[in-house]
Amino acid sequence: MLTSESKPRCLLHLDASARIQGSLSRQLTQAFVSQWQQANPNHTLIYRDLGSSPIPHIDATWVAAYESEPEQRTPEMRAAVALSDTLIDELMAADCYVVGMPMYNLTVPSSFKAYIDQVIRRDRTLHIENGTPQGQLAGKKLLVITTRKYNYRVGSGREDRDFLEPYLNAIFNVLELMDISYIHADKLALSDAEREQSLANATYAIHQLALTF
Ligand SMILES: Cc1cc2nc3c(=O)[nH]c(=O)nc-3n(C[C@H](O)[C@H](O)[C@H](O)COP(=O)(O)O)c2cc1C
Repeated sequence: MLTSESKPRCLLHLDASARIQGSLSRQLTQAFVSQWQQANPNHTLIYRDLGSSPIPHIDATWVAAYESEPEQRTPEMRAAVALSDTLIDELMAADCYVVGMPMYNLTVPSSFKAYIDQVIRRDRTLHIENGTPQGQLAGKKLLVITTRKYNYRVGSGREDRDFLEPYLNAIFNVLELMDISYIHADKLALSDAEREQSLANATYAIHQLALTF
Protein backbone atom coordinates (compact mmCIF):
# COMPACT_ATOMS: atom_id res chain seq x y z
CA MET A 1 0.00 0.00 0.00
CA LEU A 2 1.18 3.51 -0.78
CA THR A 3 1.94 5.78 2.15
CA SER A 4 1.15 9.48 1.86
CA GLU A 5 4.88 10.02 1.18
CA SER A 6 5.07 7.52 -1.67
CA LYS A 7 1.72 8.34 -3.24
CA PRO A 8 2.45 9.92 -6.62
CA ARG A 9 1.52 13.56 -6.76
CA CYS A 10 -0.69 14.47 -9.67
CA LEU A 11 -0.54 17.76 -11.57
CA LEU A 12 -3.28 18.84 -13.98
CA HIS A 13 -1.82 21.17 -16.62
CA LEU A 14 -4.22 23.28 -18.69
CA ASP A 15 -3.36 25.72 -21.47
CA ALA A 16 -6.00 28.17 -22.66
CA SER A 17 -4.22 30.25 -25.30
CA ALA A 18 -5.75 30.11 -28.77
CA ARG A 19 -2.19 30.41 -30.10
CA ILE A 20 0.21 27.53 -30.42
CA GLN A 21 3.18 29.19 -32.15
CA GLY A 22 4.57 32.07 -30.13
CA SER A 23 2.28 31.56 -27.15
CA LEU A 24 4.00 33.01 -24.10
CA SER A 25 1.61 31.45 -21.59
CA ARG A 26 2.35 28.00 -23.04
CA GLN A 27 6.09 28.71 -22.83
CA LEU A 28 5.70 29.66 -19.16
CA THR A 29 3.50 26.72 -18.14
CA GLN A 30 5.97 24.39 -19.86
CA ALA A 31 8.81 25.90 -17.81
CA PHE A 32 6.78 25.33 -14.64
CA VAL A 33 5.84 21.74 -15.53
CA SER A 34 9.45 20.78 -16.42
CA GLN A 35 10.72 22.17 -13.13
CA TRP A 36 7.86 20.63 -11.13
CA GLN A 37 8.50 17.21 -12.71
CA GLN A 38 12.15 17.37 -11.69
CA ALA A 39 11.18 18.32 -8.14
CA ASN A 40 8.55 15.52 -8.00
CA PRO A 41 10.12 12.46 -9.62
CA ASN A 42 7.24 10.32 -8.38
CA HIS A 43 4.34 12.02 -10.13
CA THR A 44 1.58 11.77 -12.68
CA LEU A 45 0.70 14.50 -15.14
CA ILE A 46 -2.60 15.16 -16.88
CA TYR A 47 -2.63 17.61 -19.79
CA ARG A 48 -5.54 19.39 -21.49
CA ASP A 49 -5.07 21.87 -24.29
CA LEU A 50 -8.23 23.98 -24.12
CA GLY A 51 -6.95 26.27 -26.89
CA SER A 52 -6.31 23.77 -29.67
CA SER A 53 -8.90 21.17 -28.55
CA PRO A 54 -11.74 23.40 -27.37
CA ILE A 55 -14.22 22.09 -24.84
CA PRO A 56 -17.79 22.39 -26.21
CA HIS A 57 -20.20 24.83 -24.64
CA ILE A 58 -22.91 23.31 -22.49
CA ASP A 59 -26.28 22.95 -24.26
CA ALA A 60 -29.94 22.32 -23.39
CA THR A 61 -29.46 18.55 -22.94
CA TRP A 62 -26.46 19.18 -20.70
CA VAL A 63 -28.51 21.57 -18.53
CA ALA A 64 -31.38 19.04 -18.37
CA ALA A 65 -28.85 16.46 -17.11
CA TYR A 66 -27.42 18.98 -14.64
CA GLU A 67 -30.92 19.54 -13.22
CA SER A 68 -31.76 15.81 -12.99
CA GLU A 69 -30.80 13.21 -10.46
CA PRO A 70 -28.13 10.97 -12.06
CA GLU A 71 -30.37 7.87 -11.95
CA GLN A 72 -33.15 9.73 -13.77
CA ARG A 73 -31.03 10.82 -16.75
CA THR A 74 -31.90 9.63 -20.25
CA PRO A 75 -29.18 8.07 -22.43
CA GLU A 76 -28.99 11.43 -24.31
CA MET A 77 -28.46 13.31 -21.04
CA ARG A 78 -25.79 10.86 -19.94
CA ALA A 79 -24.03 11.31 -23.27
CA ALA A 80 -24.26 15.09 -22.92
CA VAL A 81 -22.38 15.00 -19.59
CA ALA A 82 -19.88 12.26 -20.53
CA LEU A 83 -17.08 14.72 -21.29
CA SER A 84 -17.96 16.72 -18.19
CA ASP A 85 -17.57 13.52 -16.14
CA THR A 86 -14.13 12.88 -17.66
CA LEU A 87 -12.99 16.47 -17.00
CA ILE A 88 -14.22 16.25 -13.41
CA ASP A 89 -12.46 12.89 -12.92
CA GLU A 90 -9.22 14.65 -13.96
CA LEU A 91 -9.90 17.59 -11.64
CA MET A 92 -10.57 15.29 -8.69
CA ALA A 93 -7.58 13.03 -9.42
CA ALA A 94 -5.08 15.90 -9.39
CA ASP A 95 -3.61 17.39 -6.20
CA CYS A 96 -2.60 20.61 -7.89
CA TYR A 97 -3.28 22.57 -11.05
CA VAL A 98 -1.34 24.92 -13.32
CA VAL A 99 -3.16 26.96 -15.95
CA GLY A 100 -1.67 29.07 -18.76
CA MET A 101 -4.15 31.91 -18.93
CA PRO A 102 -3.85 34.75 -21.43
CA MET A 103 -6.08 37.72 -20.68
CA TYR A 104 -8.62 38.14 -23.48
CA ASN A 105 -10.80 41.24 -23.38
CA LEU A 106 -10.18 41.83 -19.68
CA THR A 107 -11.02 38.32 -18.50
CA VAL A 108 -10.39 34.61 -19.07
CA PRO A 109 -10.45 33.16 -22.62
CA SER A 110 -13.84 31.73 -23.56
CA SER A 111 -12.11 28.34 -23.91
CA PHE A 112 -11.52 28.40 -20.15
CA LYS A 113 -15.06 29.62 -19.36
CA ALA A 114 -16.42 26.68 -21.40
CA TYR A 115 -14.24 24.38 -19.26
CA ILE A 116 -15.55 25.94 -16.03
CA ASP A 117 -19.17 25.47 -17.15
CA GLN A 118 -18.43 21.78 -17.77
CA VAL A 119 -16.80 21.06 -14.40
CA ILE A 120 -19.22 22.73 -11.99
CA ARG A 121 -21.84 20.09 -11.25
CA ARG A 122 -23.94 19.78 -8.12
CA ASP A 123 -23.71 15.97 -8.25
CA ARG A 124 -19.91 16.01 -8.49
CA THR A 125 -17.97 19.16 -7.61
CA LEU A 126 -20.57 21.23 -5.74
CA HIS A 127 -22.68 19.17 -3.35
CA ILE A 128 -25.68 20.84 -1.76
CA GLU A 129 -25.61 19.96 1.94
CA ASN A 130 -28.52 21.23 4.08
CA GLY A 131 -29.28 23.76 1.37
CA THR A 132 -25.69 25.06 1.32
CA PRO A 133 -23.37 24.49 -1.66
CA GLN A 134 -20.26 22.61 -0.56
CA GLY A 135 -17.34 22.70 -3.01
CA GLN A 136 -15.34 19.50 -3.39
CA LEU A 137 -11.86 20.86 -4.22
CA ALA A 138 -10.79 21.70 -0.67
CA GLY A 139 -7.09 21.09 -0.02
CA LYS A 140 -6.04 21.35 -3.66
CA LYS A 141 -3.97 24.20 -5.04
CA LEU A 142 -3.95 26.23 -8.21
CA LEU A 143 -1.28 28.26 -9.98
CA VAL A 144 -2.50 30.63 -12.69
CA ILE A 145 0.17 31.97 -15.04
CA THR A 146 -1.28 34.94 -16.87
CA THR A 147 0.00 36.76 -19.93
CA ARG A 148 -1.28 40.27 -20.69
CA LYS A 149 -0.33 43.19 -22.83
CA TYR A 150 -0.83 45.70 -20.04
CA ASN A 151 -0.25 45.95 -16.32
CA TYR A 152 -3.39 45.51 -14.18
CA ARG A 153 -1.67 45.31 -10.80
CA VAL A 154 -2.67 47.42 -7.80
CA GLY A 155 -1.39 50.94 -8.41
CA SER A 156 -1.31 50.55 -12.21
CA GLY A 157 -4.49 52.57 -12.68
CA ARG A 158 -5.98 49.59 -14.55
CA GLU A 159 -6.71 47.35 -11.58
CA ASP A 160 -10.46 47.99 -11.82
CA ARG A 161 -10.43 46.49 -15.33
CA ASP A 162 -9.01 43.13 -14.26
CA PHE A 163 -11.99 40.75 -14.42
CA LEU A 164 -9.72 37.72 -14.68
CA GLU A 165 -8.21 37.34 -11.22
CA PRO A 166 -11.40 38.31 -9.26
CA TYR A 167 -13.44 35.92 -11.40
CA LEU A 168 -11.05 33.00 -10.89
CA ASN A 169 -10.82 33.61 -7.15
CA ALA A 170 -14.62 33.72 -6.87
CA ILE A 171 -15.37 30.64 -8.94
CA PHE A 172 -12.66 28.44 -7.40
CA ASN A 173 -13.59 29.60 -3.89
CA VAL A 174 -17.13 28.36 -4.64
CA LEU A 175 -15.49 24.95 -5.14
CA GLU A 176 -13.64 25.44 -1.82
CA LEU A 177 -10.28 25.76 -3.59
CA MET A 178 -8.72 28.58 -1.58
CA ASP A 179 -4.99 28.11 -2.27
CA ILE A 180 -4.60 30.13 -5.48
CA SER A 181 -1.33 31.70 -6.68
CA TYR A 182 -0.80 34.01 -9.62
CA ILE A 183 2.30 34.73 -11.65
CA HIS A 184 1.65 37.59 -14.04
CA ALA A 185 3.72 38.13 -17.16
CA ASP A 186 2.35 41.52 -18.10
CA LYS A 187 3.45 44.69 -19.88
CA LEU A 188 4.06 42.45 -22.90
CA ALA A 189 3.10 45.17 -25.39
CA LEU A 190 5.48 47.82 -24.11
CA SER A 191 9.14 48.06 -25.09
CA ASP A 192 11.19 44.96 -25.90
CA ALA A 193 13.20 45.59 -22.75
CA GLU A 194 10.09 45.71 -20.54
CA ARG A 195 8.67 42.60 -22.15
CA GLU A 196 11.95 40.68 -21.67
CA GLN A 197 12.17 41.85 -18.07
CA SER A 198 8.59 40.80 -17.41
CA LEU A 199 9.18 37.33 -18.89
CA ALA A 200 12.42 36.97 -16.93
CA ASN A 201 10.64 37.93 -13.68
CA ALA A 202 7.82 35.47 -14.37
CA THR A 203 10.29 32.69 -15.22
CA TYR A 204 12.23 33.29 -12.00
CA ALA A 205 9.01 33.19 -9.95
CA ILE A 206 7.95 30.00 -11.75
CA HIS A 207 11.23 28.24 -10.98
CA GLN A 208 11.02 29.23 -7.33
CA LEU A 209 7.41 28.11 -6.91
CA ALA A 210 7.81 24.84 -8.84
CA LEU A 211 10.24 23.57 -6.18
CA THR A 212 7.62 23.74 -3.41
CA PHE A 213 4.29 23.51 -5.23
C1 LIG B 1 -8.44 38.28 -28.49
C2 LIG B 1 -7.40 38.92 -27.61
C3 LIG B 1 -7.78 39.76 -26.59
C4 LIG B 1 -6.83 40.34 -25.75
N1 LIG B 1 -7.24 41.14 -24.72
C5 LIG B 1 -6.32 41.67 -23.89
C6 LIG B 1 -6.72 42.48 -22.79
O1 LIG B 1 -7.90 42.72 -22.56
N2 LIG B 1 -5.75 43.00 -22.01
C7 LIG B 1 -4.42 42.76 -22.20
O2 LIG B 1 -3.60 43.23 -21.43
N3 LIG B 1 -4.01 41.95 -23.22
C8 LIG B 1 -4.93 41.43 -24.06
N4 LIG B 1 -4.53 40.64 -25.10
C9 LIG B 1 -3.09 40.33 -25.24
C10 LIG B 1 -2.76 38.93 -24.76
O3 LIG B 1 -3.15 38.73 -23.43
C11 LIG B 1 -1.27 38.69 -24.90
O4 LIG B 1 -0.95 38.80 -26.29
C12 LIG B 1 -0.82 37.34 -24.39
O5 LIG B 1 0.56 37.20 -24.62
C13 LIG B 1 -1.55 36.20 -25.06
O6 LIG B 1 -1.11 34.96 -24.51
P1 LIG B 1 -0.28 33.91 -25.40
O7 LIG B 1 1.02 34.61 -25.73
O8 LIG B 1 -0.11 32.73 -24.57
O9 LIG B 1 -1.09 33.64 -26.64
C14 LIG B 1 -5.47 40.08 -25.97
C15 LIG B 1 -5.08 39.22 -27.01
C16 LIG B 1 -6.03 38.65 -27.83
C17 LIG B 1 -5.59 37.72 -28.93
